[in-house]
Amino acid sequence: MSRSIGLDATLTDYVRRANPAESAALKRCREETDGRQDAMMQISPEQGAFMKMMARMVDAKIAVEVGVFTGYSAMAVAETMKERHGSKARLYACDVSDELVGIAEGYWNEGGVADIIQPVIGDARESLIGLINDGLVESVDMMFVDADKTSYPDYYTAGMTLLRPGGVMLFDNVLWNGSVADPAKSDPDTDALRAIAEKVNNDPRVDNAFTAIGDGLLIAMKR
Ligand SMILES: C[S@@+](CC[C@H](N)C(=O)[O-])C[C@H]1O[C@@H](n2cnc3c(N)ncnc32)[C@H](O)[C@@H]1O
Repeated sequence: MSRSIGLDATLTDYVRRANPAESAALKRCREETDGRQDAMMQISPEQGAFMKMMARMVDAKIAVEVGVFTGYSAMAVAETMKERHGSKARLYACDVSDELVGIAEGYWNEGGVADIIQPVIGDARESLIGLINDGLVESVDMMFVDADKTSYPDYYTAGMTLLRPGGVMLFDNVLWNGSVADPAKSDPDTDALRAIAEKVNNDPRVDNAFTAIGDGLLIAMKR
């Protein structure tokens, strides 16, 4: 799992204890994922708490996630959605790896949210077009983008079609461990993250906030 940029271990511990406790299934997902070599891909529990709150604030009933990994962020949001909307809630969970989504499904089953999460396997650029073609236009309350950084502009374009007015799109890793603020750094991921921050900040169709939660979380609300 990752931790919020700029927080040392003591402050991280304080922030985690000041947040509501995770469900047993979320905790197991986080702890077991921590044993993987790629565990840093998982959002932090404090970011999970923030996203649950965001789902409450927009009263999310239909959500999309791009980048599932072992399922932590999707489950955090889905728990809130199910609490508020029961089995009528739907979270479309897009990932290119059916193996990873298979792992995630184990946790979603344990947490009692598998019935409201619909896995969508494949390149998310195509998956989002598929959701648009399936009629999900202007009906999504919340979308979380946490996959390949160079595709963030494509996810933004599709997301703006999917989101309802007042719906929110969250982009993860927009600080990229500080690289975005280092003028000496230029590579496809860093440049794409700078570009999405600038694009969102200059888009009159949204209200936006760039936050330092986790590794940087960019929030765009469709007007
Ligand atoms: C950073 S991880 C997601 C972490 C997850 N949100 C969590 O909190 O546990 C990124 C995920 O994006 C997926 N991914 C990468 N490129 C993708 C693409 N083009 N389409 C769909 N998924 C992709 C990877 O398979 C990986 O599971």
